Amino acid sequence: MTRQEYLVSRMRGFDTTIFSEMSALAVRTGSINLGQGFPDTDGPAEVFEAAVEAIRAGHNQYPPGRGIPALRQAIADHQQRYYGLTYDPDREVLVTAGATEAIAATMLALCESGDEVIVLEPTYDSYSASIALAGAVLRPVTLHHPEYRLDIDAVRAAVSPRTRLLMINSPHNPTGRVLDRAELTAIAELAVERDLIVVTDEVYEHLAFDRAHIPLATLPGMRDRTITISSAGKTFSCTGWKVGWVCASPALTDAVATTKQFLTYVNGAPFQHAIVAGLALPENRIEDIATNLRNRRDQLRDGLLAAGLDVHPCEGTYFLTVDVASLGESDGLAFCRALPERIGVVAIPSSVFYLDPGPARSLVRFAFCKQAAVLDGAVRRLVELSTHRVRSPA
Ligand SMILES: Cc1ncc(COP(=O)(O)O)c(C=O)c1O
Repeated sequence: MTRQEYLVSRMRGFDTTIFSEMSALAVRTGSINLGQGFPDTDGPAEVFEAAVEAIRAGHNQYPPGRGIPALRQAIADHQQRYYGLTYDPDREVLVTAGATEAIAATMLALCESGDEVIVLEPTYDSYSASIALAGAVLRPVTLHHPEYRLDIDAVRAAVSPRTRLLMINSPHNPTGRVLDRAELTAIAELAVERDLIVVTDEVYEHLAFDRAHIPLATLPGMRDRTITISSAGKTFSCTGWKVGWVCASPALTDAVATTKQFLTYVNGAPFQHAIVAGLALPENRIEDIATNLRNRRDQLRDGLLAAGLDVHPCEGTYFLTVDVASLGESDGLAFCRALPERIGVVAIPSSVFYLDPGPARSLVRFAFCKQAAVLDGAVRRLVELSTHRVRSPA
């Protein structure tokens, strides 16, 4: 078996090729692309100006391995200001090439071949890939639709002597679920009881709309057993800059940093300077970004409801989930493959986020991090689905 075949076999159900397939379909058919989650508008002007300034000021060579000191300090200040968490910027903060590298470096640093990693399902696609790269085994615990509540008994049942890590994600991609205090407390109590290290992916920390985001590390007993991962990409609408970070105890940070050193060594020097400016923005500016996205969510939700779709509750992130069974469609993948030709809209079948989608096969994810006019256009086309008028793509 080749290395590639091995990886694909370890990732089993997770067909991550669908993202590129759908993006290519969007281009070929001229469709409105609500597939991949990237904003179509830049974030705060000061942050983007700061990147240009940093390039002009000559910050174009390798930055320090753990990230520039000013950014590590800004991340530590951010954790203190928003959550009351204290991290030593020199020993407990690591800048990474996006959250994606933080996730991969964490898996490669901490997992031995055959170790098990418990993840919430549906599962963001890079988790399965990173776990496979590390030779570890993914143990999914399903958040059942449409409420997507955490079943702590299912998590408990998944813990085995081979469990190396428990991985959570809140606000959660693709469901938009924001775990509440009771669910997070249950995770914390289990982690303390079973002496587990927990990895928490909080890249949408500033995009929780209806309920405050609670970092897992703030819960009793969790600070030193939690690896917190976040990223500037979602908060400041700069997903292409790939500036992420890890906050964890010195020993865990050292382990992840050692792996990061041989993955990318360092990343994005001028963008690191720009994110210092971003993290220094007043809180109301960051709230404005969330308010704008919440309005987009409401706009798309109302439009999808008007189109006769069964829309699941969404409390954060960039994404809304619908059940196309309400349109008489049982297969979300077939639905998404046909949608660009039918009405000129691209979405992602949620089945790709499951090891075995089962009853989730008819779920479809739409991204709402787009301009109001773009969402309006998509909604107009989607309404045609329920009225059975089918147009050619623009
Ligand atoms: C849950 C989740 N984690 C991590 C990432 C990757 O973040 P980055 O672009 O910073 O690598 C994404 C991007 O979509 C995501 O949705």
